[in-house]
Amino acid sequence: MKTSKNSKISKSSRRDFLKLMLTASVFSASYPHILLGKEEGDILEKKDKILGYFHIELDKYPQLYEVWGSVRLAVEGIDPREHYPKIFITKVPYDEFGKEYVSVSEACSHEGNPLEDLNLETHLFECVKGHGSLFLADGKPFWGEALRIRRPLVSYKVNYFGGNVLNVEIDALITDYYKEAETLSYLRQNLPNPCSDSAIIEFGVEKPANVKILIYSIKGKLLFELYNNFTSEGNHSISVDMTSLPSGVYLYKMFINNEPIHTKKLTKI
Ligand code: FES
Repeated sequence: MKTSKNSKISKSSRRDFLKLMLTASVFSASYPHILLGKEEGDILEKKDKILGYFHIELDKYPQLYEVWGSVRLAVEGIDPREHYPKIFITKVPYDEFGKEYVSVSEACSHEGNPLEDLNLETHLFECVKGHGSLFLADGKPFWGEALRIRRPLVSYKVNYFGGNVLNVEIDALITDYYKEAETLSYLRQNLPNPCSDSAIIEFGVEKPANVKILIYSIKGKLLFELYNNFTSEGNHSISVDMTSLPSGVYLYKMFINNEPIHTKKLTKI
């Protein structure tokens, strides 16, 4: 492993970064590009699946000019294990990774526990609150449970075309992790969509398991349980009573044996 060049990321610049990011409420009702500046042309086209684009001015985050520097992008008020995980952006050596920046989820891909910041000596992320899995800066499992199940951290797309701005695209509802799980199970878009007082939700599981479907506000607050049962393999459909909720946009999320699998957006008119 290479020697760390930036063992002295200043605490105050990290704090400044966090302060800015914590003020940016990031959810589909309030796109971060509004809070952080420049608007993206195609965000409307992609609004069903993209959480937002962060335009990060590198001058404000000197640690991102350093090889192996990392900063966290936090999402205010949202538990990383619920919806939009916090992410790390890490500057990495181009010759090793074929890109200058990588961005991964803070949620461990084993059971979703938060990770520590990138260790500047080892260049690994460690899941200290879980079972100690270690991940490389680009999210590949390196040691521990995550390696055993061979599941990388969720990664986000970072575009850097030179200059002062780094663009991070956060795909809220379809991540690599969910795509991987999709081959084993599915959660369909509610019908009708938008709905009024009731909706039908279809889902499927590959083998018998405890299936839970929870509904959340767009800010990630748990509202109530739609379904929670030991479920046989195959296709299922449930009818959901939405009468207690006001009009608005909600999220529903499916868990299999308590592991988050899919999330969809539901609009009530
Ligand atoms: S939750 Fe991270 S290693 Fe188990």
